[in-house]
Amino acid sequence: MKVAVSIHASEDFSTEILKQLKNLDIIHLDVMDGKFVPNLKLNIDILKSIKEEFDLPVEVHLMVEDPLNYIDKVVDYIDIFLFHIEIDENIQDIINKVKSNDKKIGLVINPDTEISQLEQYLPNIDVILVMGVHPGFSGQKFLDSTAIRVKEISKYKEKYSIEISVDGGVNLETSKKLSQADILISASAILNAEDPNYVIKELKKR
Ligand code: DX5
Ligand code: ZN
Repeated sequence: MKVAVSIHASEDFSTEILKQLKNLDIIHLDVMDGKFVPNLKLNIDILKSIKEEFDLPVEVHLMVEDPLNYIDKVVDYIDIFLFHIEIDENIQDIINKVKSNDKKIGLVINPDTEISQLEQYLPNIDVILVMGVHPGFSGQKFLDSTAIRVKEISKYKEKYSIEISVDGGVNLETSKKLSQADILISASAILNAEDPNYVIKELKKR
């Protein structure tokens, strides 16, 4: 299992906390526009310092209505682009734009969205990110339906080369139900832990 720590690319974020974390596989950056989700957070300087200071793949989770407008701004600092299937934009155009920059692409699906909506994009994406909470804030309770959804989505792996990641409410307990996932993303379970490196180590064993 790969493990990602989730952080908000906001004004007050310091990379110091990340320096203490061992065995991470990915850094997951949440970007919110205050429209798609009621929260506004983006600080390009943080992205720059993360790219400079850490030798890890960086993924950006764009909780925004118009991902196309963000790609050019952050492309130099990002390895994987994740955006929501629920937006009112042409999804294929966004996939094409990310691919033309030679970056990996993932679609994010909210808890109430029909899984079948992903199907037409499966040949063209690298990751499906399954939300374990309604997006917007860290520290929310994991929705139990997520485990069933991950199981269902994992059937797509028989035919397509896709990784499944789970974001929101992931902790040492809830992760036990997520063995079909490839990547577990966590903010509070890691960052609020007394021993964050113990949590990372245990999540990796799932
Ligand atoms: C939810 C974000 C998540 C969130 C995870 O809107 O996309 O990445 O920060 O936080 P935890 O792990 O605390 O649920
Ligand atoms: Zn996220």
